Amino acid sequence: MGLSSIFWRVSWKYGLRAFRYAQHDIGHAIAALTFAAAGLGWKTSLLLDMSSEDIASLLGISGEKVPEKQEPACLIAVYPAEKTCTKSRVSSGVIPDFKNLSWKGVPNSLSPEHVEWVGIEDAASAAQKKGTDYLDKRDKSNEKPKEELKEESNEKSKEELKEKSNEELKEKSNEELKEELKSNMQAASSLKTSSFRNLLNLDTVPLREVIRKRRSAIEMNNSAYLEDEIFYAMLQRTLPENNPIFNSLAFGPFTHLLLFVNHVKDLLPGLYVFLRKPEEKDRFKAAIRPDFLWEKPKNCPSDLEFYLLMEETLDSFAAQLSCKQRKAADACFTACMLSEFEEPLKRFGAWIYPYLFWECGILGQLLYLEAEAYGLRGCGIGCFFDDPLHDAIGLIGLKGLEFQDLYHFAVGYPLPEIGVITLPAYEK
Ligand SMILES: Cc1cc2nc3c(=O)[nH]c(=O)nc-3n(C[C@H](O)[C@H](O)[C@H](O)COP(=O)(O)O)c2cc1C
Repeated sequence: MGLSSIFWRVSWKYGLRAFRYAQHDIGHAIAALTFAAAGLGWKTSLLLDMSSEDIASLLGISGEKVPEKQEPACLIAVYPAEKTCTKSRVSSGVIPDFKNLSWKGVPNSLSPEHVEWVGIEDAASAAQKKGTDYLDKRDKSNEKPKEELKEESNEKSKEELKEKSNEELKEKSNEELKEELKSNMQAASSLKTSSFRNLLNLDTVPLREVIRKRRSAIEMNNSAYLEDEIFYAMLQRTLPENNPIFNSLAFGPFTHLLLFVNHVKDLLPGLYVFLRKPEEKDRFKAAIRPDFLWEKPKNCPSDLEFYLLMEETLDSFAAQLSCKQRKAADACFTACMLSEFEEPLKRFGAWIYPYLFWECGILGQLLYLEAEAYGLRGCGIGCFFDDPLHDAIGLIGLKGLEFQDLYHFAVGYPLPEIGVITLPAYEK
């Protein structure tokens, strides 16, 4: 399945910022597809070694022109959960055949007139991805269990795969391989045992219902308090090792959560941080203000890297940072997604820039569904001011690029929407 963006469908409203909104939307879409696939017993993987050009060829959108051109984003493999996706791209041999197809259908045009946003085109062109072999390299170094190889339907590709991994195996020292295998096996076993089960069990909540009733909160009830156990359960499920939703991503996590906690029982109102990569505590601590408290709340589960940075009622400030949107203040909590920035850009190049927003979009979609499952409601907040947040936490000057605020998300209890009737989804 391929995803693309038409920037004009966002920029008519948001101007230059549309580039980031479109990438958030891609992240939400990847997560929505992954949840839907999981409901059918399938899994998804991003084919992240594909070039943007090849994705465009496969989707029949090469050579389109502004203002309403479709910009290729990603290709996603969808396959039965018991199988393993051994490829990270579609074989280059088939791409020319797609170029020669006669494509049918034209997307509706949004408007007869357009406003040109040159900055968006520049960003999109800088973020074009070339073909890579990141995942080939990684996969070849993992000796595949025999059962997985049996599952390969095509005998020829099975042989190729074996040959390739044998070659690779020869190049690696035994010690290196043992270490890699050990860590892969640990990651796999932690997925089996935890997934969606820890802390508060959501097994009895029907996925179909949660997906169909998901909406964005318009207004939130600022006198309703969230149980701390639910809050912690939600944080726990944003950890990649606890949640298969993140398996579709090949790299990461890059994103930590800075949380404005407004109304959570047994938690002091204030600014908190939740580290989704515990080993980054020292680095993160060094990057932000030295006078933060770094106190773990006493009721916090021991395996969560969750710390109080500042005790203060900060709801108005949270709203101010989110373009003065009241819901960020009235929410039980508002999460600001702080992503590693400079290092991944240096390591992977400019194409990773959109990908960082995709991870945030996936987190946003997860929080939407988590909120619904617990009887709360969420809202993506793509309108926010990043620089004042960076200033407030001391991410300034050269250090400022180490982490960047890429998305906000509010979770709380919705107020009834006066004058709005919600019919069941897909009602005929
Ligand atoms: C990436 C993203 C950013 C959003 N930003 C805002 C925002 O800043 N303020 C807001 O009120 N709603 C925001 N929303 C919510 C959208 O307005 C909402 O998803 C859309 O109107 C569709 O409604 P629904 O979510 O109820 O289906 C955002 C949603 C997404 C996915």
